[in-house]
Amino acid sequence: MLELHRLTKHFGGVRAVDGVDLIVNPGEVLGLIGPNGSGKSTTVNLICGLFPLTSGLIMFKGEDISALPPHERVTRGIARTFQNIRLFGQLTVWQNLWVAQNSAEQRRQNPVRRWFGGGGSAREDIGRTLEFFDLAHKRDELAGNLAFGEQRRLEFARAFAAKPVLLLLDEPAAGMNAEEIDQLDARIRTLRDTGMAILLIEHHVELVMSVADRIAVLNFGQKIAEGSPAEVQNNPLVREAYLGTATAA
Ligand SMILES: Nc1ncnc2c1ncn2[C@@H]1O[C@H](COP(=O)(O)OP(=O)(O)OP(=O)(O)O)[C@@H](O)[C@H]1O
Ligand SMILES: [Mg+2]
Repeated sequence: MLELHRLTKHFGGVRAVDGVDLIVNPGEVLGLIGPNGSGKSTTVNLICGLFPLTSGLIMFKGEDISALPPHERVTRGIARTFQNIRLFGQLTVWQNLWVAQNSAEQRRQNPVRRWFGGGGSAREDIGRTLEFFDLAHKRDELAGNLAFGEQRRLEFARAFAAKPVLLLLDEPAAGMNAEEIDQLDARIRTLRDTGMAILLIEHHVELVMSVADRIAVLNFGQKIAEGSPAEVQNNPLVREAYLGTATAA
């Protein structure tokens, strides 16, 4: 579904992403880990088109999307969450999902398809999304008034509402408690089992080890390891990159 070929991004002298090859398949969770500043968020930003590549290629469903503007990537089915939550704080939970769903769908559907209509109504879709993310009881709260873990959940729900086939999750568990992380783990599995391709960036090692089918490790913008969770965990290069912290996992 997604193929990164020699993906490279330099910010001045900083090689934030430096020749990274990655593949994410449908129905697969690829964990992307690495120390702070290793280029994980930049990789997601490049896939979404937030800024241009220095060099390399992004292939999505067999097409080169490297030069497409961000909204066209959303239309093609790529959605992401932000490490620093980006919600409309003055809109309700329901309105946040409405905006996300509509902006994605209006761009996706041509007038003829809109005329004939799709299955189910947009409101029903949002209702199901609220249930799935356990936010139905918060539907009329302002997003800005939600507890932090709930905001993380809404950030995930907002990305899901765009109906992506590729979901990029940038630290979705940050600030969550153990129970919330368990629920997040279950949600990611459910989506993966529908055939969605998921790129999961996470510092929470237990979650990545549990839910990822494969894991790739970045250090100073380069991929230093890739494999099953067990392979990556036992890789000396990875342990070194984390200065021993990964050995505790
Ligand atoms: N817009 C930007 N302009 C300049 N430098 C940037 C920009 N975005 C990221 N960088 C730099 O690129 C490098 C990689 O940053 P990135 O945010 O991708 O790391 P990360 O792996 O997501 O780290 P973290 O785990 O802390 O979120 C860092 O040195 C960072 O300072
Ligand atoms: Mg980051």
